[in-house]
Amino acid sequence: MRIEGRKWTTLISAALLCWVFPLVAASTPANGESPNTQISAAEAWAFPQVPPPDPHAPKTDPARIIHVAGSTRSYTQAQLDVEHFVPDWFPQDHLAAPSIVTVDRHPGWPWPCAECHMVNGAGVPATAQIMGLPKAYILEQIAAFRHGQRGASAPRTTQDMADEARSVSDDDLRLAADYFAQLKFVPHTRVVETASVPKTHWKYFVQVPDQDGAREPIGERIVEVPVSFDDYQYNNDRTRYIAYVPPGSIARGAVIAASGTGAAAACESCHGAKLQGTDLIPPLAGRSPTYIARELILFRTGQRSNPEAAPMRLEASQLTVNDMIAVAAYAGSRKP
Ligand code: HEC
Ligand code: HEC
Repeated sequence: MRIEGRKWTTLISAALLCWVFPLVAASTPANGESPNTQISAAEAWAFPQVPPPDPHAPKTDPARIIHVAGSTRSYTQAQLDVEHFVPDWFPQDHLAAPSIVTVDRHPGWPWPCAECHMVNGAGVPATAQIMGLPKAYILEQIAAFRHGQRGASAPRTTQDMADEARSVSDDDLRLAADYFAQLKFVPHTRVVETASVPKTHWKYFVQVPDQDGAREPIGERIVEVPVSFDDYQYNNDRTRYIAYVPPGSIARGAVIAASGTGAAAACESCHGAKLQGTDLIPPLAGRSPTYIARELILFRTGQRSNPEAAPMRLEASQLTVNDMIAVAAYAGSRKP
């Protein structure tokens, strides 16, 4: 997650042009399969995109010293540019991390978990917040990634996580799962209802407001932007986000969470009254609304196909995109 085609972005940029859109079905497929099992064009906002590197982007100075607000540490641009290097801006924020979390095992996979999930597990909207997830759930999901039950034909980013899961050793995995499960979850997203949003473009897996400050109607989507793109690009694990959602989403989501909608059961009946989760049912409160909505779409399309996901596949098949946005907005706005 760094500027101009480095790091995570470097590898992926090769595959990026065929990345999201082959998955997007503009209309009902010829085989008569329900469009509900396809990712629709109206859902593309939930799937991170990486435009090709800008050939006119100004060159960065390798000797430049980089700081982020509140940290006493600094790194040179050259250090940050080393492939799979992970900065640790706030060591006081987390336990001592096992090497699989922070240190590259080159060549090839596995990569340090922190490259995509941050040292403290805060993640970014394109990956997942994994700080404080129950250990049993982390292990179960890694097994799903390993068995092609999560990420088989899903977005490129999910396939990267599957490559990671297949290459990490069981010992390292246990250490990583222990570590992330012990961290306290700290939400970093503010959910804001609004009819009009900044116009944005995709930059390295995240949406960024356009320079000219133009605005546009939000329509039916979530637009989640980092408060500071510099924080994001320097892997600052205290990066904060704003998730813009359509007006009325939070109240509508609260009703779905508490009472369900149509044939969909109340989320709280399984995820808990505070959406805090249990051992094998993950927490939803305070997590990225974009992540929550994306996962709901992936349950509906069957791309999360491990047996434990069966109740969620049923649940998601009963929700419209609008319901998903509403319930994701509500869950994201709740204090964990
Ligand atoms: C190359 C980037 C990358 C690396 C490295 C990476 N992950 Fe992930 N991880 C992802 C992405 C992307 C997702 C979300 C996939 C999706 O949305 O379907 C994810 C999802 C997960 C999830 C599922 C979270 C949930 O709530 O269901 C877990 C658990 C996880 N990663 C653990 C790890 C661990 C442990 C490591 C290190 C051993 C690691 N990841 C390394 C990219 C990565
Ligand atoms: C019948 C029980 C049940 C109900 C009702 C339910 N869930 Fe779930 N949910 C689960 C289980 C179990 C999982 C874990 C799936 C797995 O292990 O792969 C899960 C996982 C999820 C995830 C994935 C989170 C992650 O970390 O990747 C999301 C998002 C989610 N649920 C949202 C919802 C929403 C929103 C509702 C209400 C509209 C809801 N769930 C209702 C049982 C339920």
